[in-house]
Amino acid sequence: MNRQHVLKLLNPVLALLFVNQIVTGMSGTSLSHEAFEILHKGGAIILSLAVVTHVILNGNWIKAQYFRKRNHV
Ligand code: HEM
Repeated sequence: MNRQHVLKLLNPVLALLFVNQIVTGMSGTSLSHEAFEILHKGGAIILSLAVVTHVILNGNWIKAQYFRKRNHV
C-alpha cells in the first residue's frame, strides 16, 4: 500500500475517531465508567497516533506550504 492508499483509509478513520471523542465526551452519565475508559480514553490514544501518522504522511505538503524558500525580488 502506498502513501495515497494509506491516507485514503486513514482520513475517514480519523473523522470517525474524532466524532467518537465528541460523542463519548458529551455522553454524561449514559456510559459506564468502564465503557468511557475504553471508548474515550482508548479513543484518545488511537486518535493521537492517527493524527501523528496523518501529519507524517502529509509532511511534504506541509513543508511545501509553510517551509519553502521564497524567491526574494
Ligand atoms: C479530540 C478530542 C478529545 C480528546 C483527544 C480527549 C481526550 C481525553 C482524555 C485522554 C481523557 C482522560 C483524562 C484522564 O486521564 O482522566 C478525557 C477525559 C474526558 N473528556 Fe475528553 N477528549 C476529547 C474531546 C472531548 C469532548 C468534546 C468532551 C465533551 C464535550 C470531552 C469530555 C471529557 C470528559 C467529561 C472527561 C472525563 C474527565 C474526568 O476525568 O472527570 N472530551 N478526554
